Amino acid sequence: MKIKIFKASRKDKPEQFPSVRFYGNKTSYAKFISKVIEKLRPETFLEVFGGTGVVSYLVSDFCKVTYVDFLEFCCTWIRSLISREVNSVSWKKLEKLAEVSPERGLISRNFKNMYFEDHENEWLDGFMSNAWKMKKSERDIAISSLIQACIAKRPFGAFHRANLYFRKRRVKRSFNNWITWNRNFKELYLRFLNEIKSARKQGNVEVIRGDCSSISLDADVIYADPPFVSKSYYVDYLKLYHFVEGLSRWDEWEDLIDYSTSLKCLSRKIYPEFKKANAKDILNELFKNCSCNAFLFSWASDGYPEPPWILSKLKKRWSSVAVVGFEKHVYLRGKKIELLFIAHEKADKLFKF
Ligand SMILES: C[S@@+](CC[C@H](N)C(=O)[O-])C[C@H]1O[C@@H](n2cnc3c(N)ncnc32)[C@H](O)[C@@H]1O
Repeated sequence: MKIKIFKASRKDKPEQFPSVRFYGNKTSYAKFISKVIEKLRPETFLEVFGGTGVVSYLVSDFCKVTYVDFLEFCCTWIRSLISREVNSVSWKKLEKLAEVSPERGLISRNFKNMYFEDHENEWLDGFMSNAWKMKKSERDIAISSLIQACIAKRPFGAFHRANLYFRKRRVKRSFNNWITWNRNFKELYLRFLNEIKSARKQGNVEVIRGDCSSISLDADVIYADPPFVSKSYYVDYLKLYHFVEGLSRWDEWEDLIDYSTSLKCLSRKIYPEFKKANAKDILNELFKNCSCNAFLFSWASDGYPEPPWILSKLKKRWSSVAVVGFEKHVYLRGKKIELLFIAHEKADKLFKF
């Protein structure tokens, strides 16, 4: 398989885009992807498995976008960044929301000693009961800012372990994250609120919360970035982010929790898993059902199914498929190559800028 390698760096991230912490985000080469798409001059663009939506964010500058992810908090995030009416929110009101009267509510009741300290849980409960009363466009921004604060305050930036003790342990750390873990929610909320304020822009984006296997895949250009799966491991987005997903579904959260899980994770029923056992079937369906002139697909060089399998499937539908590799440095794991498959009749010409 011929691969053209580029170096990806955090410095290449889109200037305005907030400093997200999200597993598998493509901020370091989103500009590259967006430039390829722009060359195709599409009128419609569909991003499936959207995550932070950084590609949709860039592409919305030059065409109509549809964004899909099955996590509500990702949908809330992208709505907070792109809106048809940017001037419809009161930033003053959003700042005032940080003056919280702590209370004992859903989070204090269900998550004691799991992810945050008691006084932090009460702050979150107090914040949420006011935020939920705001109009939708303001609520999206408030919740997105709070979610980034929650993620920043967590070891490994996730909720896959109920390991509050890890944060509280008095040991000498060789890294700086614990400084952020111990910043208060108010400060972090205001920091991320400001980042969203600078990034928020006007655009034509339809946001759909849904399973990619059950929506119509029809656009001039489609970009798909499924979760990482290898032979021995897969990234389980529900397990990593169930707590912030709950925040974005505040009024339904307690009914969605699967109380038999030690993490108090949301029930799997509406969040289908993507793993080794079903990855080939899901990808086969995706490739078969896409109706588009160009299809872009992100995959890891150590992913399962293996890259040559992906290439052979794409070649069944598109006469020409180019493969670009981005070399990334991953903490404790050294260099990693992330791949971008570009399926289009003139694929080879699209990444020569
Ligand atoms: C690798 S991440 C996408 C990262 C994104 N490209 C970015 O730059 O942030 C994969 C995304 O797929 C979503 N996802 C997983 N299974 C899904 C499904 N069946 N339908 C829709 N979205 C799904 C996850 O919620 C996650 O946001």
